[in-house]
Amino acid sequence: MCGIVGYIGMQAASEILLAGLEKLEYRGYDSAGIATVGEGEIHCVRAKGKLQNLRSKLDGIENPSQIGIGHTRWATHGKPEEYNAHPHMDVAQRIAVVQNGIVENFRELRLELQQKGHEFKSDTDTEVIPHLIAEYLARPESAAPATLASSPFLEAVRQAVNHLEGAFAIAVISADYSDELIVARQQAPLSIGFGQGEFFCASDTPALIPHTRAVLTMENGELAKLTPLGVEIYSFAGDRIKKSPRTLTWNPIVVEKQGFKHFMLKEIYEQPGVVRGCLEAYTDSTWEASHDTPPVNLGLDESLYENLDRVQILACGTSWHAGLIGKYLLEQLAGIPTMVQYASEFRYAGAPVTPHTLTIGVTQSGETADTLAALAMEKERRKPLKPEYQPRLLGITNRPESSLGHMVPNIIDTHAGIEIGVAATKTFVAQVMAFYALALDLAYRRNTVSKERIQEILGGLRQLPGQIELVLESQERYIEELAHEFGDTQDFIFLGRGINFPIALEGALKLKEISYIHAEGYPAGEMKHGPIALLDAKVPVVAIAMPGSVYDKVLSNAQEAKARDARLIGVTPMDDKEAAETFDDLLPVPVVDEMLSPLLSVIPLQLLAYHIAARRGLDVDQPRNLAKSVTVE
Ligand code: M6R
Repeated sequence: MCGIVGYIGMQAASEILLAGLEKLEYRGYDSAGIATVGEGEIHCVRAKGKLQNLRSKLDGIENPSQIGIGHTRWATHGKPEEYNAHPHMDVAQRIAVVQNGIVENFRELRLELQQKGHEFKSDTDTEVIPHLIAEYLARPESAAPATLASSPFLEAVRQAVNHLEGAFAIAVISADYSDELIVARQQAPLSIGFGQGEFFCASDTPALIPHTRAVLTMENGELAKLTPLGVEIYSFAGDRIKKSPRTLTWNPIVVEKQGFKHFMLKEIYEQPGVVRGCLEAYTDSTWEASHDTPPVNLGLDESLYENLDRVQILACGTSWHAGLIGKYLLEQLAGIPTMVQYASEFRYAGAPVTPHTLTIGVTQSGETADTLAALAMEKERRKPLKPEYQPRLLGITNRPESSLGHMVPNIIDTHAGIEIGVAATKTFVAQVMAFYALALDLAYRRNTVSKERIQEILGGLRQLPGQIELVLESQERYIEELAHEFGDTQDFIFLGRGINFPIALEGALKLKEISYIHAEGYPAGEMKHGPIALLDAKVPVVAIAMPGSVYDKVLSNAQEAKARDARLIGVTPMDDKEAAETFDDLLPVPVVDEMLSPLLSVIPLQLLAYHIAARRGLDVDQPRNLAKSVTVE
């Protein structure tokens, strides 16, 4: 979603802002802009579309200003047009603001401000903020007692944010306070980077790491004043807060394409390493059934496990698909009834509260607004209840430093490294790995499967990196060729059963989000209850037919599709004669334990989606209308 950057220091701000916005492009946007202060004026330049359009507008303009803010906008209120792009300014053009989030009470505020004579130029919710700040700057005494009287600009922003409802992160500059950059955070991510005599802010750390590793993640209800001399943090009530930055360990190289045409392809190829990393982080590599020590150590509080009766998983999109696999594993291995809900549904209609329940929020970014809100709601509604109903919250995330990391006391870090492609690939595999670890941990503690079976599954997991490598090596060229045949295809159906049903959903989601082809994922057995009516020779059907309890059933369901002239593509075991006879096109993967098969069956589907989209010449890493981290409801 929207990206925010800000700079104050000794260098020319505009190039730093543009470079920062480029690092945030992956989050998704449809317009961009920057504002700087020079010669007592604010210089604001905005452009619709890609950052290149903004760059062209700025080309050749000499701008030595050493303070500025920048923004990439993902439209929520108002069309993606230049007049709605950020930064937004007050009537006198003395204050400029960029925002990520939604000001929910903007209509009331806008009306009040209009009655006071403020004129608005955009359809956005954000534009009320500079107007409101201008109001408080003009008459701080009458508006409210000034808490931070020594710093009028900071005080005006403080008063303004106290009137905003919703989730927001903002950065503000003023022509009259050219050595102050003010930032504030309420339920939307914002971090401050510390340099030598220069300071940065950004909604996501990739924009900071080229400059500094010393980063402070702001908390909800905090605002900060950045000057060339340092950073002061305050609460929205005006109390000073003492905090220090921490050191990020990221290497900037991880945010480069490293020779791959797209980040998505690079990230698909990183998956063997991700599985290895997870195994190293979660499991004892020497463990055998004869050992008395646990096979898995997730470092979670023991209280999470006490009398555990039930699990509920809350997530969105691909993370929800990982949650569905998690449910399968937790139920089949650890015998725990598990419910998976879309966070966006749960937050307005939560399932009845049950005792001894573990709630797991799954979000790679750790910033998805719905997932955070659903977890917050769960925490709040359980607090007044008896001890057995008290919240037990666990987060599975790739960004432990995120808002989720701050909200939830127990985290499983998925160690996938930053993911830039909007379509989640390696982070999905890493989330599924976290569920294997959790399910094995619980199965061992509850004694629901034998130690020999645990050893078998761990052994199978250890083979996976090599097997994923084999699929990548043996399949990519073929899938690239196959993709040519779907140049005009408009609909796809993906079928799977059991533990591979979520992979059918994931295959369909990957295809639709980057290639804009309509795709549906179905449990194969449900086809004949309706969707089969969609089939004809123009609709390819991809069926995941992995050896195990439902293999024959999936083959029969595929035959039903074939009988309706559908072109059949099968993700099948290697060297399988029956599969070769059934399917028109084969995407073979090594034969593994059914329980482990999703981590292999997903790979050809990621490649298929990638190559179809790349073949169509689409923007694979930043598909239209999508954002990497969905920080608004
Ligand atoms: O950061 P999260 O895991 O919470 O994101 C959830 C979804 O927005 C995300 O998985 C989305 O569906 C991806 N674009 C899928 O590729």
